[in-house]
Amino acid sequence: MYRVGLCQFASKLLNVEDNLIHMRQLLETQSADLVVLPELATSGYVFSCIQEVKSVAEPAETGPTASLFRELAAERNTSYVVGFVEKDGDALYNASMLVNPDGKVYVYRKTHLFYEEKKWFSPGNSGFNVFAAKGGVKVGMMICFDWLFPESARTLALKGAQILAHSANLVLPWCQKAMLTRSLENRVFSITSNRFGTERNGGKELFFTGMSQIVDTHGDILHRCGEQEEGLFVVGIHPEDADNKMITELNDAFTDRRPELYIT
Ligand code: ACM
Repeated sequence: MYRVGLCQFASKLLNVEDNLIHMRQLLETQSADLVVLPELATSGYVFSCIQEVKSVAEPAETGPTASLFRELAAERNTSYVVGFVEKDGDALYNASMLVNPDGKVYVYRKTHLFYEEKKWFSPGNSGFNVFAAKGGVKVGMMICFDWLFPESARTLALKGAQILAHSANLVLPWCQKAMLTRSLENRVFSITSNRFGTERNGGKELFFTGMSQIVDTHGDILHRCGEQEEGLFVVGIHPEDADNKMITELNDAFTDRRPELYIT
């Protein structure tokens, strides 16, 4: 069994230090092989100006988030996926990093920016890539609104992902349902780690939907959090189940595709 988890909590806006301390406390409550944390877990989400975004931005490899998660990953022999604001030169990205027990860090930059994110972030240019997490398990990262575009999950699955590590700050009501289909149609596990709570800043307010979930390769829910629940939740899976794309003995979800007839 491979123990996968999600960590649902509410970040404090613009307070990276407190958020990292809080994440450490939650992550020390249980052991796991892979844990996924929310989008922008280090920074909060409702920015009111670019100075605020810059104030919480960090380089992927050498910032405080990589530093804490490298330490935790080595100490606890766990791989982590966590959302943060990445600074690369003058560019700011809504990004996730996968941090492995051996200290390696892999970055995904959000492809499909949602709403006011377009004011703050450059559209991600990393593309969808698959990386080996602890034990060689193949993980593909996507972030929140990427769920609306089936190409995100499909690309990761076609590249061999066994688990979709989906960090989120969800405000629309449909993603949890849609991700059941993303798992089912691609025959992959998905871990949607969402935040909860209301965030207010500069006259703006957003409500985040909680209900983080872990879904198996048939689209069945292995765990779903409550709307306001905080904590680390872990289930055991067999990642290799995702390597079987057979729907019936005569149907393979991937080799039955007819890409020559599709518009891209
Ligand atoms: C979202 O993409 N954070 C809704």
